[in-house]
Amino acid sequence: MALQYDAVVIGGGPGGYVCAIRLGQFGQKTLVVEQAKLGGVCLNVGCIPSKALIHASKVYRKAKDGAAMGILGQDLRIDLAKMVAWKDGITGKLTGGIGGLLKGNKVDVLQGRGELTGPGTLLVTLADGTTQTVQTKSIVIATGSTPIQIPGFEYDQETILNSTGALAVTELPATLAVLGGGVIGMELGDMYARLGTQVTVVEALDRVLAMFDPDLVRPVVQKQAKLGVKHMTGHKALRWEKTVEGKASLTVQDSKGTPSQLVVDKILVAVGRRPNSRALGLEKVGVAVDAKGFILVDKQLRTNVAGIYAIGDVVGNPMLAHKASKEGEVCAEVIAGHKGAAMDVACIPNVVYTDPEIATVGPMLFELEASGTKIRTGRFHFAALGRAMTANVTEGFARMICDDKTGVILGVQVVGAEASELIAQAGLAVEMAATAEDVALTVFAHPTMAEAMLEAALAATGHPLHQVK
Ligand code: NAI
Repeated sequence: MALQYDAVVIGGGPGGYVCAIRLGQFGQKTLVVEQAKLGGVCLNVGCIPSKALIHASKVYRKAKDGAAMGILGQDLRIDLAKMVAWKDGITGKLTGGIGGLLKGNKVDVLQGRGELTGPGTLLVTLADGTTQTVQTKSIVIATGSTPIQIPGFEYDQETILNSTGALAVTELPATLAVLGGGVIGMELGDMYARLGTQVTVVEALDRVLAMFDPDLVRPVVQKQAKLGVKHMTGHKALRWEKTVEGKASLTVQDSKGTPSQLVVDKILVAVGRRPNSRALGLEKVGVAVDAKGFILVDKQLRTNVAGIYAIGDVVGNPMLAHKASKEGEVCAEVIAGHKGAAMDVACIPNVVYTDPEIATVGPMLFELEASGTKIRTGRFHFAALGRAMTANVTEGFARMICDDKTGVILGVQVVGAEASELIAQAGLAVEMAATAEDVALTVFAHPTMAEAMLEAALAATGHPLHQVK
């Protein structure tokens, strides 16, 4: 017999489970269909586990480099298996928490793989191979994304790793090649380098983290270089083969076509992610996707088929958990009939958890320059910030970008310690259409890292305080 629901969410990641919680709160009889674990990539094999290991590696490095602060005894050791077990404990706790939240909001969960079979109908294949038909008024597709695979570099999670494999290694590789100097490659390459692995980043473009302004990326590259990381920009990976010693011999090629060879223990491939929109029955019900397979939606997360919505990575960039969650909330409001509900946020923060961290809201300088927008900026270096000195983290800066005429903040960029935390206030300022003057009028606690934002705002108003004009 078919199960009957008001709404079915396919996928229990940060998009899907948030959408389901809200749907439950709005009185919709809701079911989440999840084939693996609640929490999706973010909680199980993405954001949370990577940040746990990244943090642990930073603690290790800080202690090891503590001599300048009078902390001696740098003969530290790493028990990677224990570190990974600690990380697994965190993901276990959080995943369990989501189950509790769904239950508390009267949302049912069905473990299985969902496929659309017609308007308002799904077939769910359960783990034991049996199937269950579900009928519903609304369907939300929140199936996320998967690492792209380079032909010839099939993931065995032994020698060729994707991000999932890279977070489960229990013995530190002596050498690691990272294919792709994007967010994942730079974060995980950074982590391995801090733990002591010799890392080489192979990036096809002429610079790593090319989506950010170059001066935001420079402190990260410089610090990585100090750890011995090699950045082979303008290089593409061609093929690899196993050596007799069981290592990977990797052939890369520069932009002129000149090949070179690298011999490493493991290769991490991080060349982007593709949407999980295949084998979902989309073609059966006529849901439109773009050339890359991303589901096309409007500002209300509606697909071209009535009653079918899509949110998160499967609808496209930015592929970020917090974007997915926001879309999940909005989508639930749309389904519940809230007037005016739409995805109309002023900005979505972007964070890279390298050391130093990069965090931004709003457009890059190079984008504003290309569009001819008249701007004024204010910048403050952490080297001049008392709190940064007391924490021995003086690399980087905060920059505020404002509309030249009105002073309205268009964006904020931070590269430095705590950038991931500092960016929250910038997001609030942009969302509230604050001006640099508004921020400059605010009293900030002293001494804090957040004062970098105040100083950047003061500079943007033309009245810098702790720096000479
Ligand atoms: P990405 O799109 O950030 O970077 C991929 C990089 O690989 C690009 O720089 C590209 O030029 C390069 N590349 C492509 N093919 C190549 C080849 N054959 N050889 C060498 N280089 C090649 O993708 P990434 O790092 O896999 O991340 C996927 C998604 O996950 C991103 O969209 C990101 O938003 C998200 N993510 C976000 C995090 C965060 O918010 N902190 C952390 C990790 C991932």
